[in-house]
Amino acid sequence: MLETASHDPLAVGLAEMRPQPCSLVILGGGGDLAKRKLLPAVYNLALDDVLPENFAIVGFGRRELNDNEYQAFARAGIETYSRRSAEDNHWADFEHSLFFVQGSFDDADAFARLKMRLEEIESERDIPGNRIFYLSIPPRFIKACVNQLNAAGLIYENNDSGPFSRVIVEKPIGRDLESARQINAALAKVLDENQIFRIDHYLGKETVQNILVMRFGNAIFEPLWNKKYIDHVQITVAEEEGVGTRAGYYEHAGALRDMVQNHILQLLSLTAMEPPWAMTADVVRDCKLAVLNCLRPVSDSGSCVVRAQYAVGTKDGVDVPGYRREENVKPDSITETYVALKVLIDNWRWSGVPFYLRTGKRLPKRTSEIAVQFKEVPPILFNIDPRHTIEPNVFVLRIQPDEGISMSINTKLPGAKLRIQPVEMDFGYQSTFDEQSPEAYERLLLDVMEGDATLFMRRDEVEASWTWIKNIQESWGREDIHWLPEYAAGTAGPVEADKLIEGNHRKWHTL
Ligand code: BG6
Repeated sequence: MLETASHDPLAVGLAEMRPQPCSLVILGGGGDLAKRKLLPAVYNLALDDVLPENFAIVGFGRRELNDNEYQAFARAGIETYSRRSAEDNHWADFEHSLFFVQGSFDDADAFARLKMRLEEIESERDIPGNRIFYLSIPPRFIKACVNQLNAAGLIYENNDSGPFSRVIVEKPIGRDLESARQINAALAKVLDENQIFRIDHYLGKETVQNILVMRFGNAIFEPLWNKKYIDHVQITVAEEEGVGTRAGYYEHAGALRDMVQNHILQLLSLTAMEPPWAMTADVVRDCKLAVLNCLRPVSDSGSCVVRAQYAVGTKDGVDVPGYRREENVKPDSITETYVALKVLIDNWRWSGVPFYLRTGKRLPKRTSEIAVQFKEVPPILFNIDPRHTIEPNVFVLRIQPDEGISMSINTKLPGAKLRIQPVEMDFGYQSTFDEQSPEAYERLLLDVMEGDATLFMRRDEVEASWTWIKNIQESWGREDIHWLPEYAAGTAGPVEADKLIEGNHRKWHTL
């Protein structure tokens, strides 16, 4: 999956891969995710010339579209959202691989029609029956859809010699431990675990994959990466946008389910895991799972979890409404749009080192990063005067935007006097490599075509995350509250979150 050595590391991997002929069936193919992310991602793979020689995309959904209309839908999505625009000379080829079958998820006849159409396409395009089904659908339809696919004979049994059937499942996998278990059980009835690809698009981001390269491809970090040298770690996923048009989903999710259970816990496990002994799917996932299993359960969310909601404020100097005034949000909603947590990992490497996690909507800017703060130097030589302490070193992995890595180093200011100031050593992807990073979905879709599950969540990982989240959900469930602490839209979060981290010279990294 990850490869080494190249003139252009971001392009490596893509250029050398050429998966077996297959078709990609997108259930929910006329939806928002298909338009914004999936179709643009496949188009960019086509531009990179890494798709299988024989390939087809079949959209399946309720919208009344024929093939031509689906091609126009895809083109509109690509023109608006793709990182590279639709070029006429490539487009003609690409659009011939796009098809649409109309039908609803509870209609067995529609799945029978899908099968017939798919078989025609496979025979016309010389595709030997390899199929990827992307469930771009709300979680409540997952069970029904998988059963329909199975009943219609669209999914084959897992075997090494015949064509493959793989199913990609979008997050959220459930809304709590119980519902996640039910979804996983429904999938397991029909599919083997190695046919299931649970997507967390954060794992497809270049900079997230780089966490492992940075940690285990350099000799200088690993010896320091533990409780002896690290004071604490901050993981931030901040968004500038509000809930937008997604309140229908978000009202029932909130930041804990939407961001912490998946993306942030994945970032945490990659940051904290033990060195895997091989870059294979199961070894990497075993190591991540071990971290999730060591998270100290949150028994009293009051002391280590802060939730809040954005109130009226500004964005780019323009007034924006508070969450309760957003379209389709209940005026007395207590859905959290911000959450900050103090997490402890009870193992030898991390015992006593807090991991502070925070995520929120309507924060000052969109930024995701992992900041590792090292311990202070001892109060000897340069760190004697308590009024002028030396800043601890901070190592920051910038996940997005402005992807890169920086490290603060204390340095002597030029001059006769001894004055010390932290300076930044900085590496930026954009300035170092000419190539634009692929979108997360490009990498992930190609990995599914290759059958590589390293960057996908295994069943036990998902359930371990929900097991840890469950305590927080239960603790919130016991609170009889009618409002949440607020932060003005465009500000860095509630004061309660500052109190969570304060003490011991700790403060949130500036947003
Ligand atoms: C999704 C969440 O998983 O991730 C959204 O459902 C969130 O609420 C999005 O906006 C953030 O992804 P990214 O890649 O823009 O950081």
